[in-house]
This record gives sequence, C-alpha cells and structure tokens, in this order.
Amino acid sequence: MRTDRTFTMLKPDSVEKGNVGAILEKITAAGFRIVALKLTQMTVADAEAFYTVHNERPFFRELVEYMTRGAIVVAILEKDNAVEDFRSLIGATNPAEAAEGTIRKLYAASIGENAVHGSDSDENAEIESQFHFSEREIF
Ligand code: CMP
Repeated sequence: MRTDRTFTMLKPDSVEKGNVGAILEKITAAGFRIVALKLTQMTVADAEAFYTVHNERPFFRELVEYMTRGAIVVAILEKDNAVEDFRSLIGATNPAEAAEGTIRKLYAASIGENAVHGSDSDENAEIESQFHFSEREIF
C-alpha cells in the first residue's frame, strides 16, 4: 500500500466562507502535490456511508446534516509520509486544541464544523479516495 498519498475534504463551512483558495494555498505551500481535485456534494446516503464508523456517536446526525448541507472540495494529496504530515498541518479535531498556524486553528469554528478532513491511516486514505474519485480523475 502506498504511504505517499492522503485524502482530504474541505467541508461545507470552508466553501461557504470562501476559504477554499487560502486552504489549498496552505496545503501546496506545505509541499503537498494535488493529484485529484473537485467540487462536489454528498447525499445523506453518501455521508452515512462515509462516516459509518461514527454511526453510534451522539453527534452522528449532526455530522451527516453538516456534511450534506452544501458543496465540499475533495482532493487527493501526494507527499512523503502524507497521512501523518497532513494531520499535523490541519491540527487537532477540536480547533480550540489545534496548534497555532494549523488549518483548523486558522479556519475552523468548532469541533463539529472543523473546516477540513484528513484521512487517519494509509488504508482509509485509499478507501476514502476511491469513495470520491474514479481512476481517470486521479493523476
Ligand atoms: P473528522 O475528524 O474529519 O471526522 C469525524 C467528524 O465528526 C469530525 O471531523 C467532526 O466534524 C465531527 N465530530 C467529531 N467529534 C465531534 C463532536 N464531539 N461533536 C460534533 N461533531 C464531532
């Protein structure tokens, strides 16, 4: 399994606030190469499937509603040690705990509306990439 790619979503709050350009700039400035990119919107069924690991959590319905309420930007990013380095770049899930300079510290409003997603393992990066992209959309 390749270890040099990760998957990200710029969530509806990032699109609504006009932060997509600034966030992509931070991502590429940190050395990630964009190998797939598109604007899309998840259906309720998509979000329930994507976040199935969280389906017993008390925030699950809120999460599905948030992630389906508008457009998102999905991307596959390439860099050595991509999963770990990208999670460092985005910062902690809760922006109140995120380090200075991280994407969530700069752009996230709350633990629920936290601006960006980053895969938590190489295996999930592959699964999540295939969820959103066909082979011919990946370069
Ligand atoms: P992420 O880590 O990308 O994927 C799971 C998402 O669930 C997380 O981002 C948040 O958007 C959301 N989430 C996690 N914890 C909470 C919480 N305590 N309350 C509401 N939403 C949460």
